[in-house]
Amino acid sequence: MTADLRADMQQALAADYVLEEELPRGGMSRVFLATERSLRRRVVLKVLDPELAASLSAERFKREIGLAARLQHPHIVPLLHAGDVDGKLFYSMPYVEGESLRELMARERPMSIERVSQILVEVAGALDFAHAQGVVHRDIKPENVMLFHGQAVVLDFGIAKAVSDATQPDSGSTTAPRLTLQGTSLGTPTYIAPEQAAGDPALDHRADIYSVGCVAYEMLTGHPPFRGKSPQAVMIAHAKEVPEPLARRRPDAPAALVKLIMRCLAKAPDERPRRAAELVAALRPAPTGDGVRGAFQRFPWWLPWLLAALSTAAAIGIAVTRGL
Ligand SMILES: Nc1ncnc2c1ncn2[C@@H]1O[C@H](COP(=O)(O)OP(=O)(O)OP(=O)(O)O)[C@@H](O)[C@H]1O
Ligand SMILES: [Mg+2]
Repeated sequence: MTADLRADMQQALAADYVLEEELPRGGMSRVFLATERSLRRRVVLKVLDPELAASLSAERFKREIGLAARLQHPHIVPLLHAGDVDGKLFYSMPYVEGESLRELMARERPMSIERVSQILVEVAGALDFAHAQGVVHRDIKPENVMLFHGQAVVLDFGIAKAVSDATQPDSGSTTAPRLTLQGTSLGTPTYIAPEQAAGDPALDHRADIYSVGCVAYEMLTGHPPFRGKSPQAVMIAHAKEVPEPLARRRPDAPAALVKLIMRCLAKAPDERPRRAAELVAALRPAPTGDGVRGAFQRFPWWLPWLLAALSTAAAIGIAVTRGL
């Protein structure tokens, strides 16, 4: 069955792609490295789990995914193509030669404050751009962030929503691609916002801000805010429990960063930062040559007064000396 999917895809797409190695799969799809014949470039082909695809409206999926395909941003991996082969839904994207944030976190423990801030600024920048165009990611997690030449890029924009919206309620599918509990809650339990876990149909971009908070917490401490024996237990924790204070687990983290991340983790969307841009503004390092204010912020407040007093004293000294 598994080998057949690959053979079927290769046969059907032979004119356009040469399928190569298969990458470790995620929750919803099989992932193949491939070469696109026309441009001789390497791409990744993701083929949705056939059982999941059977429960979706292919037209709806392709329409929904089209919204995300319009996103062009330096920190977003674009979608190149979406299609179906005898009901098998697939989409392609550039192959990112790098490592996932999951792999980076396993290698760099603990991650430095600078590194965490840089990744957050880049991911939040990508999110803010997408949110402004009405696209919510809904599945922000370390597997969906890759590091490309040190820069964070976000994968799989809009896929969770496309799958969720294209689900046909009476499909009778037995597939549980992580979470389809309430139809709209598709996401990953470890990083899911309480309202998304509850299947709130009105969820908005602030669900992504919550997930970013979970990822940030994990980058700093090595563990996500909530762990549990089952996906349900983790989701209940998101709704009801308070995470262990970040400051206790990462005492070297600046208070402002800790506060910002804890605000992202607020249970109520209204208590989170209103836009991802707020994270960018709060975390972006002050540019060099940032003017008088920025320069003075690096020195004690009394330094200008001391300098003024010294120069006045010097001026008086010179005047007195000349007078003499
Ligand atoms: N465009 C890409 N370039 C390079 N590697 C990729 C790309 N897309 C995915 N991968 C790798 O393939 C793995 C599986 O990806 P996939 O998106 O199917 O799974 P996932 O993100 O873990 O779960 P989900 O089903 O929620 O998306 C990822 O962990 C990632 O390392
Ligand atoms: Mg993914």
